[in-house]
This record gives sequence, structure tokens and C-alpha cells, in this order.
Amino acid sequence: MNTPTILVTGATGTVGSALVPALHARGVNVRAMIRDPTRPVPGVENVVADLTDADSITAALAGVDAAFLNSPSAENAARLQIRFADLAHDAGIDRLVLLSQYAADLDSPVRFLRWHAQVEAHVQQLGINHTILRPNLYMQALLGFAGTIAQGWFAAPIGNAAVSIIDTRDIAAAAAAALTDPVTTGRTYTLTGPRAVTHTQIAHVLSQATGQTIAFQDVPAEQFARALRGVLPPWQLDGLVEDYAHYARGEASEVHTSVTDLTGRPPRDITDFAADHAGLFAAHDNA
Ligand SMILES: NC(=O)c1ccc[n+]([C@@H]2O[C@H](COP(=O)([O-])OP(=O)(O)OC[C@H]3O[C@@H](n4cnc5c(N)ncnc54)[C@H](OP(=O)(O)O)[C@@H]3O)[C@@H](O)[C@H]2O)c1
Repeated sequence: MNTPTILVTGATGTVGSALVPALHARGVNVRAMIRDPTRPVPGVENVVADLTDADSITAALAGVDAAFLNSPSAENAARLQIRFADLAHDAGIDRLVLLSQYAADLDSPVRFLRWHAQVEAHVQQLGINHTILRPNLYMQALLGFAGTIAQGWFAAPIGNAAVSIIDTRDIAAAAAAALTDPVTTGRTYTLTGPRAVTHTQIAHVLSQATGQTIAFQDVPAEQFARALRGVLPPWQLDGLVEDYAHYARGEASEVHTSVTDLTGRPPRDITDFAADHAGLFAAHDNA
């Protein structure tokens, strides 16, 4: 049997950068889809393509057996992902693994969850072997708060709600399994960490890992939005506020066994994430 070739979109991104080595370790041919030819992903085949350029996607899909579909958070993400799925179907690939989001739902008040659900619905009726992965909030999203965490605090409009946050390395391990194991065909996996934690608990874990006092501040959504206005485009800021309202309502606290089911080992805990990234959260001595 020929060694399968697997195309990884978003190969330089949070999940993709961990997925490439996870797939490589499984002995398949990995084709990393990148935009910037001057920054190839080391150790694997690279192909330059852009989700906004259909011809480049068709060329990238030539000779591919399976593809991992992950797009950046963009206003037109659903349209770009749906077109990629259509092109993958046209190319006759055997399997598509789609990165969606926990609680994706066509009727959700959260726009990102509606957009992901639209892509899921399209892929499900396309007639292509597929697996859908719905990860919860990424632990790596905390790296976006590293600037203030290093100063001893971080803030979000989430109250005391617990979220079963997940390390993106475990999403990648689950995706590698889904891309190589046909038993996952037609299934949707909700991917979570091993427990649900509040942001106050996260602050405690980060304090222990860094040896510094880090406090979490719950803030009203309006204040959070005001601080980010001008930093993020309006659609993304509004979507982020909707995301946090969803977390604050306690709608993202279920713990699922999917990572263990798919990979054979439990997902990383927030304490593991904090230990591995403590240096990025520690206060910098500028003296
Ligand atoms: N963040 C969370 O907590 C979370 C939770 C659940 C689900 N998600 C979902 O995860 C997905 C990815 O989000 P992310 O913010 O973590 O992004 P990411 O995967 O870290 O980064 C985006 C990737 O897409 C590539 N890319 C950007 N524009 C592209 C284009 N036009 N064509 C092809 N590739 C392009 C980037 O490549 P370059 O290096 O060239 O820029 C990068 O590799 C989103 O659908 C989001 O809804 C996120």
C-alpha cells in the first residue's frame, strides 16, 4: 500500500504547527500548506497556497489522500472553508478532517459558532468521508494575555464560569488520529481538557508556575470591548464578546473523553500548560 499524503492547512498556526510533527511521527507524507515560501515548515513537503485563491488550493490538493481544514478566524471563514471542502471533494480525496468549535450551532447567538455550524452542515452533505473536531477554548489563547499576566493580572468578562479549556497540542494529536484512522469517519468529536476551570483557578495555576502573584479580574463586557476597540476589527471584537458571554453562561464546561478515546492518552491539564509556558508569562526584569 502506498504511503498516504495528508495536506495540512494552517500549517504555521496554533494547531497546525503541532499537527505536522504528530502526523510525521505516524509515518505519513505530510504536505504543509503555507502562504509565505520564505518560511517553510521544516522536515516535510511544503506547498504554497492561499484559501482565497481557488486555483492554488486545487494545485495543493493534487495527489492528496486526506486533508485537515483549519482557517484563520476571518469574517469570510465559512465561505472559504466551504469552497475548500468543495474543491477537496472535486479532487477526489478520501477524507477531510474539519476543525470546528465546541457547541457549534446554526442557531447560536455566537457568530463563530453559527459560522462553524454552516461549514459542518455543508461538509456533512457533501458525500466525502469526514470527521468533525469541535475543540473548546484553547489554553494557548492565554498567551494573548501574556503582556498583562507578566504584570500580575489579566481580565475578561467571564465571571466565575468554568470552561473545559484544551491544549492545542492535544487537538493536534486528536486530529492526527482522525486523519489516519477510518474508524472516525462520519463522527463529530467535542474536544476538551481533563477538567473545567474558572479564570480565577487559571490565575492560581499561573501564579504557582511562575512564582509570581497573578490575579484574575472579571470585567463587564463593555469595558473589555472598550479596551480592545481599535485593536481588533469590529466583527472580531463583537464575536469575541459573544464568545465570552457564552462562556460566562456556563455553556462550555462539559468534559468529554474524546482526546483519550482518539489518542489513547489523557489531555494535558492547565497545570501542564502553565509549567511548559511559565517563561512566557513571567515578569520581565528590564532593570
Ligand atoms: N482560539 C480558540 O480558543 C479557538 C477555539 C476553538 C476553535 N477555534 C478555531 O480555530 C481556528 C483557527 O484559529 P486560530 O486563531 O487559532 O488560528 P491559527 O490556526 O493559529 O492561525 C491561522 C493559520 O491560517 C493561516 N492562514 C491565514 N490566512 C490564510 C489564508 N488566506 N489562506 C491560507 N492560510 C491562511 C495562517 O498562516 P500564516 O502563517 O501564513 O499567517 C496560520 O497558519 C478558527 O476557525 C477558530 O474559530 C479557536
